[in-house]
Amino acid sequence: MTLTSTNICLTEYPKGLPTEETFQTTTTDVVPAGDGEITVKNHWMSVDPYMRGRMTGIKTYIEPFQIGEPLEGGAVGEVTHSGHKDFKVGDWVMTMLGWRSLFTAKVEDMQKVMLQKIDPNMLPPQAFLGVAGMPGLTAYAGLYKVAELQPGETVLVSGAAGAVGSTVCQLAKADGATVIGIAGTDAKCKWLLDHGCDSAINYKTSDNMTKAIRNAAPGGIDVYFENVGGIMLEAALNNMKIFGRMAVCGMISAYNDETPVPGPSNLVQIVGKSLKVQGFIVSNYSKYALEYFAKLGPLMASGQLVQQETVLEGLDKAPEAFLRLFSGDKQGKMLVKIT
Ligand SMILES: NC(=O)c1ccc[n+]([C@@H]2O[C@H](COP(=O)([O-])OP(=O)(O)OC[C@H]3O[C@@H](n4cnc5c(N)ncnc54)[C@H](OP(=O)(O)O)[C@@H]3O)[C@@H](O)[C@H]2O)c1
Repeated sequence: MTLTSTNICLTEYPKGLPTEETFQTTTTDVVPAGDGEITVKNHWMSVDPYMRGRMTGIKTYIEPFQIGEPLEGGAVGEVTHSGHKDFKVGDWVMTMLGWRSLFTAKVEDMQKVMLQKIDPNMLPPQAFLGVAGMPGLTAYAGLYKVAELQPGETVLVSGAAGAVGSTVCQLAKADGATVIGIAGTDAKCKWLLDHGCDSAINYKTSDNMTKAIRNAAPGGIDVYFENVGGIMLEAALNNMKIFGRMAVCGMISAYNDETPVPGPSNLVQIVGKSLKVQGFIVSNYSKYALEYFAKLGPLMASGQLVQQETVLEGLDKAPEAFLRLFSGDKQGKMLVKIT
């Protein structure tokens, strides 16, 4: 018996903002699992900003995607065939083999990257791609292990209504912080105010971000959780308190730049304010996953931490879902429901 998988592949390494033409759909034959393998039917896949960095053909902290090959990324699905004693038909798993409807792979190979059984009765399966997955752990690691949030502090978050940012805001609020979120629409700002933010700033309608942050936090910012870069970083620097900390998680505003943009004009404030500025990559913090889940469980049960999501249906919608990360045309975690 041969099965068929539908896949999304790259046609090129895009210059600037990718378009629908950057992607193409292919089909491949899939042989059901043999010895040591499992076959998985994907139900959900994630699109994430870091994938843009894998579309450049250049190795960074992670290998680039290969043109013509199915893209990769977080996905959850159901085992349909198993040749491995630890997996049975009907098990749900999280892997890094998204952007395809179906695959057979060696368990041993997948375990080197990511292979985790999940319980879809514990949480909706797509939550393992968001608040209970990589974006959630990123929020936790940045806030507690990098920025070392202390009780009673004031936290500023850019990209606050996204997958990582919305988790940061809710975690910080649950710990009693004063939280200021920055997002790109009034609807996103309203959601933030309803879910843990004391203030929310729409950067697209604010004519002076430095002033807007100062109005929201007249005493200054202890912790800045950076997801965006550019003007946000400059405005945040202007408002940091002495001995403030910046957890630099991402700078999405620069991911599609064809030529480097000038840095903030006020970096010298790092010296005068004795700031600690630290970048981080979540994969270096995976040892904190269980610690994070122990915190997450009660917060989700009490409704203090929720996953907001935008879902596009059908694998063919994956390129659109990815592009909408950069237009901001989505709320919360962007997901593709494959089946
Ligand atoms: N370091 C790590 O290990 C790690 C892990 C995961 C994610 N990240 C980073 O964390 C950040 C957030 O990721 P996420 O998965 O939570 O994505 P997301 O926030 O759910 O989606 C991206 C959001 O960024 C905003 N945005 C896009 N282009 C922008 C621009 N030019 N200027 C300002 N805002 C822009 C948009 O929201 P608005 O409507 O508000 O503009 C968009 O909705 C990204 O920088 C990502 O690379 C880092």
